[in-house]
Amino acid sequence: MPTVLVTGGCGFIGSNFVRHLLATDAAVSVVNLDALTYAGNLANLTDLTGHPRYTFVKGDITDRDDVRGAMRHGVTDVINFAAESHVDRSIQDSGPFVRTNVIGTQTLLDAAREFKISKYVQVSTDEVYGSLGPTGLFTEETPLHPNSPYSASKAGADLLVQAYQHTFGLHAVITRCSNNYGPYQFPEKLIPHFIAKLLKNERVPVYGDGLQVRDWIHVRDHCRGIEAAWRAGRSGEVYNFGGRCEKPNIALTKELLKLLDRPESLIEYVADRPGHDRRYAIDCTKAERELGWAPRETFEAGLRETVEWYRANAAWVAAINSKEYLSYYAKQYGPSA
Ligand code: NAD
Ligand code: DAU
Repeated sequence: MPTVLVTGGCGFIGSNFVRHLLATDAAVSVVNLDALTYAGNLANLTDLTGHPRYTFVKGDITDRDDVRGAMRHGVTDVINFAAESHVDRSIQDSGPFVRTNVIGTQTLLDAAREFKISKYVQVSTDEVYGSLGPTGLFTEETPLHPNSPYSASKAGADLLVQAYQHTFGLHAVITRCSNNYGPYQFPEKLIPHFIAKLLKNERVPVYGDGLQVRDWIHVRDHCRGIEAAWRAGRSGEVYNFGGRCEKPNIALTKELLKLLDRPESLIEYVADRPGHDRRYAIDCTKAERELGWAPRETFEAGLRETVEWYRANAAWVAAINSKEYLSYYAKQYGPSA
C-alpha cells in the first residue's frame, strides 16, 4: 500500500493531483506537505477534510526537520510539486525561487535517500528547454537552455535529481509539462487572471505583441501523466507532457473574450515581460509510447468548463484577492499548530 508524499499539494496542480490520486486508487494514501505560501490555499482541498487516506502537514521543503516529520507518516514515494512557479515573480526577486526550487529539491532528495523511498518524481517544466523558433518541438533530448530565473531554478533542480539517480541509484523520474489550465489555478497566471478581470469588465494586459505561443494542456491530463510516470516511468528518464494545442496569446485572449461575451476594446497591450520566451511546444510521443498516456481533453470544452468554474467560484477568487485565505490555516488549526 503506497503512501505518497505530495509536496505543494495546496497549489493548483498539486491539489488537482491529490484529488485525482485518492479518487483513482483506493490503495493509495497521500501525505500533503505544503508551506502555504501566497500560492498555497487549504480551501483548494476542503472536500478532503476528514478523508481517511489523506494527511495534511504544514511545512517547508527546505527545512530538513519538516521534511523528516512528513516522511515519518509512513511515506513510501515522493512526488515533488512544491515550487515558486510564476515567471514574473522570479524576475522581481529570484531568491525564493532558488531557495524552494533548488535547495528544497536537494532537501527532499536527501530525505528520499535517508528514508529509502521507492520512487521519486520531480514535476518539472518545459521552460527548462528555453524558447523555440516558429517550427520544431521540445523532445526529451532538447538541451537545457533556461531563460528566466524561474526556469533556471527548475533546471538546477532537474540536474540534482539526475545526479542523485546516477550517483546513489535513487529511482527517480522527471516530468516536463507545458502550460496547464483548469480549476484552482492561482489568478496571476494568464487564463485565470484574464477570466477574473473580464468577469469584472476590466481590461486584460497582453504582454508585447501578444504573438508568443504556448501549448495548453488541461490539468487533468497532466495529473494522469504524472500518475503514469510515477507508476511506469523508468528510473533516470524524462517524460514530456503537452496538449498538442499551440495558441498565440492574443488568439487565446480573443477566445476568452468570446466565451465571456466581452468586446475586444478590453484588450490592453502592455510592456513585454523581460526575456520573454517566444514559443513552447511539446513532443509527447515518448510518454504516449512508454506510458500509454495521451491528452484526452479538448481545449474548446476545457476552456469553456474553466470559464464556468471561475464564474461559479468568484468567492474563491475574491478571498484570494482580499488575502483572506492566508489566515485560513490559523482559523482551522489554531495559530500555534
Ligand atoms: P502553484 O504556485 O500553484 O503551487 C505551488 C505550491 O507549492 C503552493 O501550494 C505553495 O504553498 C507550495 N510551496 C511553495 N514553496 C514551498 C516550500 N518551500 N515548501 C513547501 N511548499 C511550498 O504551482 P503549480 O502551478 O501548481 O505548479 C506545480 C508544479 O508544477 C511546479 O513545480 C511547477 O514548476 C510545475 N509546472 C507547472 C505548470 C503550470 O502550467 N502551472 C506547468 C509545468 C510544470
Ligand atoms: O510552460 C510551463 C510553464 O507555464 C510553467 O512552468 C509555469 O509555472 C507557468 O506559470 C507557465 O509559465 P508562463 O510564463 O508561460 O505562464 P503565464 O500564465 O505567466 O503566461 C502565459 C503567457 O501569457 C506568457 O507568454 C506571458 C503572457 N501573459 C501572462 C500574463 C500573466 C500576458 O500576456 N499577460 C499577463 O498578464
